[in-house]
Amino acid sequence: MELLAEEYLMPNYARLNIFFEKGEGVYLYDKDGKKYLDMLAGIAVNTLGYNHPRLTNAICEQAKKILHISNLFQIEPQIEVAKILSENSINGKVFFCNSGAEANETAIKLARKYFYSRGIDKYEFISFKNSFHGRTLATLTLTGQVKYQEGFYPLPAGFKYAELNDINSVKRLITNKTAGIFIEIVQGEGGINPVDEKFVYELYELTREKEILLIIDEVQTGIGRTGKFFAYQHFNIQPDIITLAKGLGGGVPIGAVIGKKDIANTFTSGSHGSTFGGNYLATVSAKVILEEVLKENFLNDVKEKGIFLKELLKDLGFNPRGLGLMVGVSLPNDIQSVDVMKESLKEGLIVGIAGNNSLRFTPPLIISKEEIKEGIEILKKVLQKFN
Ligand SMILES: Cc1ncc(COP(=O)(O)O)c(C=O)c1O
Repeated sequence: MELLAEEYLMPNYARLNIFFEKGEGVYLYDKDGKKYLDMLAGIAVNTLGYNHPRLTNAICEQAKKILHISNLFQIEPQIEVAKILSENSINGKVFFCNSGAEANETAIKLARKYFYSRGIDKYEFISFKNSFHGRTLATLTLTGQVKYQEGFYPLPAGFKYAELNDINSVKRLITNKTAGIFIEIVQGEGGINPVDEKFVYELYELTREKEILLIIDEVQTGIGRTGKFFAYQHFNIQPDIITLAKGLGGGVPIGAVIGKKDIANTFTSGSHGSTFGGNYLATVSAKVILEEVLKENFLNDVKEKGIFLKELLKDLGFNPRGLGLMVGVSLPNDIQSVDVMKESLKEGLIVGIAGNNSLRFTPPLIISKEEIKEGIEILKKVLQKFN
């Protein structure tokens, strides 16, 4: 089968030769029946793990009715999901798409349209070095890492990169054309780099003072991942636009953008769109995810389980970074994260990597403390091979 993959699939992923067949809770099983504890969750996607009874049932029931209908018509679960997202964030309006890149692409367009429709000539964006915002041409330009841009020139104009946690580096880049600043509260792909509290408030004040839109990319951090519904809610700030994807559908592709009402209303009929965006399949799934994540104690449990995971990693001698169940550790210089990841797979543990020497843990949010302990025990055994 892997030979067929080589022949027929574009070689843009370094895929490992494991074929997973089924999943249950936080466990995956490959074709040979080998069991794996998944502490990656499809890269922060499978919020409720595998075969969650409510999610599976909702999808099956919906499949018997309508999977897709166009946005020419009203879609009830889309409206319900928008209401939940809005009421639990900035009381804004929501646009649905299919991925994180599309959500950020939408946010770029929305911010430009917002100023354009007011006759204000603002179109530039500032983002941060080591950020990750997607792979479309505009979002890879927004991404502050040259490796994602190389070979795709010329890039769209109007994007600049500041240093995370350095307010002066932001101030230096602001002009009277700056429309928005994009930030991840914890940089995911860049290596699990949390933003400093002081910097968040400085940035927030600066955007208020200069009339710049604060756009928070919650594609990886959103929907409970950090122990709050949205990561920005660890602080007393109000973003203008929030972008979402990954965990929102629990494995069903969906992206979303929440914009404050005056900003959202600059999109008029025909301004923007997506064939699949917010269809029945995606929004019925998202509704289950949101209802589960917003159940009493769920977010608090995520926070506690995150603290527990960090404690166990400290016991292994690491200095863990991150928030909630989005945790990273740096490996000693001579150990490559990809090697640890591969050895872990042999022992039945799935961990992620971020950069050359960081491991990333983004397990399903339903993981128990016992399962976290089991995963870290496996990791301990794996690391002994590198000593
Ligand atoms: C913070 C952030 N933004 C955007 C994206 C892009 O999302 P997608 O791969 O769904 O386009 C990612 C994906 O890793 C991400 O982590």
